[in-house]
Amino acid sequence: MEIKTVPFFNYPYVYSDDEDRILDIIADVGRRGAFIMQEDLTTIESNIASYCNTKYAVGVANATDGLQLGLMAGGIGKDDEVIFCSHTMVATASAIYFAGGVPVPINTNEAHTLDVEDIERVITPKTRAIMPTQLNGRISDMDAIQRLANKHNLLVFEDAAQALGARYKGQYAGTFGVASAISFYPAKTLGCLGDAGIVLTNDDEVYAKLLQLRDHGRDATGEVVSWGMNSRLDNLQAAILDFRFKSYKKTIQRRRAIASQYHSQLSHLNELKLPPSPDGEGDYFDVFQNYEVEAEDRDKLREFLSERGVGTILQWGGKAVHQFKKLGFTNSLPYTEALFEKMFLLPLHLAMSDDDVSYVAHCIDKYYR
Ligand SMILES: Cc1ncc(COP(=O)(O)O)c(C=O)c1O
Repeated sequence: MEIKTVPFFNYPYVYSDDEDRILDIIADVGRRGAFIMQEDLTTIESNIASYCNTKYAVGVANATDGLQLGLMAGGIGKDDEVIFCSHTMVATASAIYFAGGVPVPINTNEAHTLDVEDIERVITPKTRAIMPTQLNGRISDMDAIQRLANKHNLLVFEDAAQALGARYKGQYAGTFGVASAISFYPAKTLGCLGDAGIVLTNDDEVYAKLLQLRDHGRDATGEVVSWGMNSRLDNLQAAILDFRFKSYKKTIQRRRAIASQYHSQLSHLNELKLPPSPDGEGDYFDVFQNYEVEAEDRDKLREFLSERGVGTILQWGGKAVHQFKKLGFTNSLPYTEALFEKMFLLPLHLAMSDDDVSYVAHCIDKYYR
């Protein structure tokens, strides 16, 4: 087999794929002098809100800020405990921390989302909320989470950074709780040329607070009415997102087609555990931000792939959030820790051809022969 190069992700492609159009957009925004909170921002906000079938979307500087501002606007504050899944980016926990709360990590499950069975174990009188991460473009079991939230009088927030367009029983990621945030980091399913994010909410009061919190605590007249931050989504990035969002359905179709192809070429291998196939998901519609697999001899397999030009990575550098002991976490989550010895991500991005996907699958197949 001839050696190919299939990088884990192709950052230059985020620009080069649409270079002419992007240069036009930069010129247009520049000539209009439309840099901060202009029409391009309100366009992406209203398009994302209507796509996700939610009342409001508020553009912010990045999803990490968005999660924090969503928690703050939703009433999470000093010493409130917020339960989250430890298989997530540290951003989920830092958002809780900087909102004044206490991040409480629990296990992930077989689908790599929040283990609902683990929630009640950590509930205390200080627990205020559950914040599942809709990881890898797949939604958590929201019915079960909502049932437990109702039973214990808890709020629900979502880290939907990886899940724009993912659905559970027809409902879109980011619309299940008080507030959520989606990321537009370049490698995300909808990526811009830098940092950006958006907060979703259905709640009028939360929406009004979000508008203030992202803009120095100012109301619509410019009067400062509360403490706030500067976390505005750059209008130039908004204009690029407006353009990219027009083809978002095709983007998701392509990501799901790659996942399907991996599934059909790899599912015969007992040594590898794959994510659910997009062709038999039942209640779930996944957008495949990532393709996360499990292999017992992961490190050797990754080395084999690397020697053949295939880039893979360990999500979060190979550690669950509670394993960052310098942040003060003292608990252990054996199931999650064992999973972190096996998991890794195969490349899945728009710069890949069907041949690239086949090549990755053939290399894996060869390893196990
Ligand atoms: C699960 C998760 N949460 C939060 C974030 C933070 O998003 P951002 O980089 O836009 O702050 C990311 C991604 O970067 C993520 O993957």
